[in-house]
Amino acid sequence: MIEQSLVLIKPDGVQRGLIGEVIKRFENVGLKIVGMKMQRVDKKFAERHYPKRLIPILGGKTLADWEDLGIKTTKGKEELGKQAWNDLIKFTTEGPILAFVLEGVHAVQIVRKMVGHTSPHKADPGTIRGDYSPISMGYATVRKFGGRNLIHASGTVEEAKAEVKLWFKPGELHTYKTVHETHTR
Ligand code: CDP
Ligand code: MG
Repeated sequence: MIEQSLVLIKPDGVQRGLIGEVIKRFENVGLKIVGMKMQRVDKKFAERHYPKRLIPILGGKTLADWEDLGIKTTKGKEELGKQAWNDLIKFTTEGPILAFVLEGVHAVQIVRKMVGHTSPHKADPGTIRGDYSPISMGYATVRKFGGRNLIHASGTVEEAKAEVKLWFKPGELHTYKTVHETHTR
């Protein structure tokens, strides 16, 4: 029942100086940090983290946001998705990322809940994207500046397993007991 989730503070989150604020939230909720590093990734690595199969999904999310913005288009999911994906890869490689692994019961679901909706304009207050990002993914696609929504979190347990393996070698993950596990249980 104990899960691990991969979290990335993306280049915009690092540039905004939000590392401490974001980590504090996960520590406060009681998730355990079992690995952490700052890394700048190249295009090849970014394409492994955000594979091309995401293109129609990004296109669909762009279309939904464009409807909210009242933007009419004849472009389809594939074409818009391709543009959003290219911008996303460029954005992902533009500066250092803070990568970490959180462990705990239902870690994947709890982290996603705290991160909020993909498009910050739909993310609830109290979530990281909802509290700190004043844009929408649809706007990002219009302006072509990449999906600057501060943070990545694994979407499913399966995705988490693959992403933890992609970002961390086994020796970079740690086993230890928190003070609560040692002294209060
Ligand atoms: O990150 P999340 O799992 O919430 O969303 P996703 O559908 O897996 O998309 C991955 C990332 O692509 C998002 O976090 C955004 O940074 C970016 N994206 C984008 O650039 N344009 C969109 N229309 C949708 C997402
Ligand atoms: Mg995702």
